Amino acid sequence: MHLARFPRLSLGHFPTPLEPLNNLSELLGGPKIWIKRDDATGLATGGNKTRKLEFLLADALAKKADVIITQGATQSNHVRQTIAGAAKLGLKAKVLLEKRVTDFGEDYQRSGNVLLDELLGGEIVAHLPGGIDMQQAMETYAAELREQGHNPYVIPGGGSNPTGALGYVACAEELLYQSSQLRLRIDHIVHATGSTGTQAGLVAGFTATHSHVPVLGISVRAPKEKQEENVWNLASRTRELLGVAGELPRDAVVANSDYVGDGYGLPTASMLEALTLFARHEGILLDPVYSGKGAAGLIDLIRKGHFRQDENVVFIHTGGAVGLFGYRQVLEARARHG
Ligand SMILES: Cc1ncc(COP(=O)(O)O)c(C=O)c1O
Repeated sequence: MHLARFPRLSLGHFPTPLEPLNNLSELLGGPKIWIKRDDATGLATGGNKTRKLEFLLADALAKKADVIITQGATQSNHVRQTIAGAAKLGLKAKVLLEKRVTDFGEDYQRSGNVLLDELLGGEIVAHLPGGIDMQQAMETYAAELREQGHNPYVIPGGGSNPTGALGYVACAEELLYQSSQLRLRIDHIVHATGSTGTQAGLVAGFTATHSHVPVLGISVRAPKEKQEENVWNLASRTRELLGVAGELPRDAVVANSDYVGDGYGLPTASMLEALTLFARHEGILLDPVYSGKGAAGLIDLIRKGHFRQDENVVFIHTGGAVGLFGYRQVLEARARHG
């Protein structure tokens, strides 16, 4: 595996810290919980997309793109970070937003990530109804721009294709290096999984290096079988891009969809509890859509005895706290009830 042969920009702050969560470990009675601070990657408040964009935007430059197109839900962190990356390169970013969540008022529609999208100079070309084929909508828009003489570069939702997933192959390498520096045996990795690039990149990286670190993706949307299938597909394509021989074993990909609740972006009691525990015991801000549900899964599985007391569990904080501002009413109600 030789990542340096792929074009890559330097957009973030790496390596991100890998630190113990002593208070939460004690509160929950073990195992030893660690946190990988991918919320601190930089690029307009950070998050997991910085790693993907280092490869995606390098590819865009190599292809001489003059405009970046991407898409996401209204409060998409991916959209915010893509606009920030494009701004740094002096490229225009044109984005399509999907009204995937409609239950929350003005703050959800205008604050949080949406506010920053505009501050960062992104152009919200359309805010489309939920459930439509957003990839197709981007392709149609890209064709229009081509007719006008532009050379658009289309980044899929979440930056999740093999090029974007290389960012999390790099994260797997980084974790292996840090674990050996810290003399830390990583027994499990847990993180939120959505558009799959994060888990696919990690799985591709760990299997390509024969390091066999188990990765558990806590789904924020799709049912378990579907999520595992999607992650497996992208991890396999990422291994192909890396030139890794052989088929990826199906059991290298494990997802858990027990913490989605009523659907994508819809708050759950366990997510709100996780937000509160991380905030009040570690001073760390999670987000309501991804890392909050990921941490809810981590906490519940600890309580159910899923991990051994002497094991080290690394939670990857994938960012997203900007989205908290879109959920003001929900969070205020929570704060009022303690
Ligand atoms: C904060 C945050 N965490 C986790 C994820 C999920 O990562 P992925 O889409 O690579 O599965 C996303 C993006 O969708 C995100 O914005």
